Amino acid sequence: MLGATAPLSQLNTGAHGDRVGRRDRVRPSSICVVGAGHVGLVTAACLAELGHRVTCVDTDEGRIETLRSGTVPFHEPGLETLIERHCASDVLKFTTSYKEALEGVDFIFVAVNTPSTPEGAADLRYIRRAVRQIGRALKDSRPIIVNKSTAPVGTAETVDHILRQEAGSLGELPVVSNPEFLREGTAIKDFMKPDRVVLGSHDREAARRVAELYGPVEAPVLITDPETAEMIKYASNAFLATKISFINEIASICEGVGADVSQVAQGMGLDKRIGPQFLRAGIGYGGSCLPKDVKALAHMAGLYGSHPQLLNAVLQINVDQRRRLVHRLRQTLGSVEGATVAVLGLAYKPDTDDVRDSPAIDIIRLLDNEGATVRAHDPVANQNLAEILPDVTYCSDPYDAVNGCDAVIIATEWPQFLDLDLEQVKARMRRPVLVDGRNLFHPDVVRGYGFTYLGIGRPDHLEEPLVLEPQPKEA
Ligand code: UGA
Repeated sequence: MLGATAPLSQLNTGAHGDRVGRRDRVRPSSICVVGAGHVGLVTAACLAELGHRVTCVDTDEGRIETLRSGTVPFHEPGLETLIERHCASDVLKFTTSYKEALEGVDFIFVAVNTPSTPEGAADLRYIRRAVRQIGRALKDSRPIIVNKSTAPVGTAETVDHILRQEAGSLGELPVVSNPEFLREGTAIKDFMKPDRVVLGSHDREAARRVAELYGPVEAPVLITDPETAEMIKYASNAFLATKISFINEIASICEGVGADVSQVAQGMGLDKRIGPQFLRAGIGYGGSCLPKDVKALAHMAGLYGSHPQLLNAVLQINVDQRRRLVHRLRQTLGSVEGATVAVLGLAYKPDTDDVRDSPAIDIIRLLDNEGATVRAHDPVANQNLAEILPDVTYCSDPYDAVNGCDAVIIATEWPQFLDLDLEQVKARMRRPVLVDGRNLFHPDVVRGYGFTYLGIGRPDHLEEPLVLEPQPKEA
């Protein structure tokens, strides 16, 4: 069985499947993680938590100093505690020196950034630089190189090529592609309790040794060739983005026909073949992953002569969602020229201070372009957005943000916004218009306070669904 609950998890090595047992206890290994960004730090801390000795190397001296003083430079629940604990017991270390980090290691995880180029491709310069440094710093050991960075199909081969150039005397070094499936905000849980572990390598023994690092993690491990593993990562993120753009397109149709998209998603999600996840309509996906990865996959498709029409539509719908929201606000107010608008929620999703590709950025820019004044508030992301949009007025308190406003837009579904005293919000506003970009509120509750409510794909009068559960059969 490929079960997540099997006491000794099984791994299936091919479509027709030899089934091979996997150790459920960790044999402690010595590991270097290259890159102290989000993926690198979560990987380093979780590998230490699994019982390995880990050194994390990054050339950014400021960042390494911050980490040594026990501070994590971004918001990820549980990460600081893990790092503190494993640094205190000397199992986890931070350094800027590759030489020090590679001393006697069995595995090297590469977890560096692959930002978008202006053409939408994944920029491999940081991977190339890191692998070159690794090749130069290796003396006589032959560790397994594991790539965690999201990188286009063919990157394992590029890594192999650079290693031959820089460390050819060591012979062929094993390279394994091990894509990450970590969500910001739940990354520790996603690492320790993943749905699957994917490993891609032409060297099956090396892949099996990487599988053993995960020891007690109860999840199926899929071992493929490197190209397939790299593709699984892109296809997974593209599929999640497709689900979101699909439900957003359905939401637009719902607005026309008077149906409620949340109940449509609920009804669809009850079909086990569809599932309820990633069917929340809103102002579209953001963050450092889905937008970048869909673009990179579409770019990759073009290089191989494909016309990725579905991916292009997914991207376009995601841009349109933000424009549609501003268009609807314009229609409601008559014009946004001269209006003051509060934007509540700046992070691309709750539980993170990350504002990369956040829908709030596009919405603020659109409003600003049309002559509106924006007052913004986020529980943790004000400062990060101020670095990108310095001219916005940032408020530490949501009530302060709505003062004198003609409309308030909910751009991130922070749960604490549900506790807002809407009476007080309305009293502070010039015009009571609430645009719910994440369908956070119940429309009737908001309207009950005298607001004009605009949600995504919701009718003017919402009737609650009635779910009749099957009755237990009498014995
Ligand atoms: C995403 C994937 O979910 C991870 O599996 C993957 O490892 C990661 O990218 C990555 O490649 O590193 P993440 O970007 O942290 O993780 O965030 P998600 O939880 O996937 O949300 C992405 C965006 O989609 C957010 O803006 C969120 O608001 C939006 N979203 C999500 C919706 O609009 N509707 C939904 O139903 C779900």
